[in-house]
Amino acid sequence: MLNSLWTPTVAGKISLPHRLAMSTRNRATPDGVPTDLNAEYYAQRASHALIITEGTQPSDDGQGYMTTPGIYTEAHITGWRKVTDAVHKADGRIVIQLMHVGRISHPDNTPHHRQPVAPSAIKPAGQMFTASGMQEMPEPRELTTEEVAATVEDFRRAAAAAIAAGADGVEIHGANGYLIHQFLFPTTNQRTDQYGGSLDNRIRFAVEVATAVADEIGADRTGIRFSPGNPFQLGDLTEDDTHELYPHLVRALAPLDLAYLHLAHGGDEELLGTLRELWPNTLILNRAGTDIATRAKDIDNGVADVITVGSMALANPDLVERVRVGAPLNDPDPATFYGGGAAGYTDYPTHAA
Ligand SMILES: Cc1cc2nc3c(=O)[nH]c(=O)nc-3n(C[C@H](O)[C@H](O)[C@H](O)COP(=O)(O)O)c2cc1C
Repeated sequence: MLNSLWTPTVAGKISLPHRLAMSTRNRATPDGVPTDLNAEYYAQRASHALIITEGTQPSDDGQGYMTTPGIYTEAHITGWRKVTDAVHKADGRIVIQLMHVGRISHPDNTPHHRQPVAPSAIKPAGQMFTASGMQEMPEPRELTTEEVAATVEDFRRAAAAAIAAGADGVEIHGANGYLIHQFLFPTTNQRTDQYGGSLDNRIRFAVEVATAVADEIGADRTGIRFSPGNPFQLGDLTEDDTHELYPHLVRALAPLDLAYLHLAHGGDEELLGTLRELWPNTLILNRAGTDIATRAKDIDNGVADVITVGSMALANPDLVERVRVGAPLNDPDPATFYGGGAAGYTDYPTHAA
């Protein structure tokens, strides 16, 4: 069982010794600079095929939550360098996920305390954690056409900074209701310029970001994540035409020859099959809430090349070794998922311990 899981593969320029990768976390400091504790956390998990870091903002505007890291200042680069050095020393591979949250933000949580920006001025439903407790997310301001172009450049510069910080590549976060996702669907995108309306217009921002990042650091170090039909973190963004939009998007991205496409699967098997056929390169799949054996079947069946885990990896630093020998897994503790110190972060025991 699980033989195909242990077969080496590649994600663009990055050689993977097996196919069990991880994708999560959230524990930087208020100034967005990764710390020694973050380096320890990721290094503990270096035996995963690939570490995809927590979402990291490319600019002040890109931040929404209180303690997410950034990758746009010299201090950020120095902080991330500690993390990438520690992971490489432990024989791991790491890409930094570039996340611009768009309207999922609160001014109390950003360095410049400005009104959030988004494709359109449509207030998200719901509240967000801030230093003074839960608060309503305010109505965002619509980005001007020139500012959309400037935001693409923010992603480009952040990708360069990630490489300067020693990362093996970057993953562009196009999933889970954040800025790139907000451009894809009319509930959050009512623009009348070339970034709104038709399918071509709604995918334009995603394709321009991917093109700029690939141009800057190489397509073979650039991955991108989407979450077709997946309700996780979606709020009141509704995806009304997934069967038209996502194939259109993947067809437009395919010629860029990116390192990988990472899908947070939403349960639509037909759509997944379609996207798999349209995507020529490595496909990474996150099948939320299922066990490893179930996820590994996607590799056996040719649906995915690599699988990712979120909560199992945060709770099991040695997940790969445990799966190899069939050892039981630690349970994740949701109370310590976001924010805080070493508890529920670097203190999950290994099986050997
Ligand atoms: C604490 C925590 C933090 C997460 N942070 C991110 C993130 O920064 N970027 C992202 O794309 N997904 C993030 N995720 C989502 C995971 O990548 C994954 O899609 C989700 O946990 C469901 O899969 P699982 O059953 O493997 O955990 C996070 C999940 C958890 C539990």
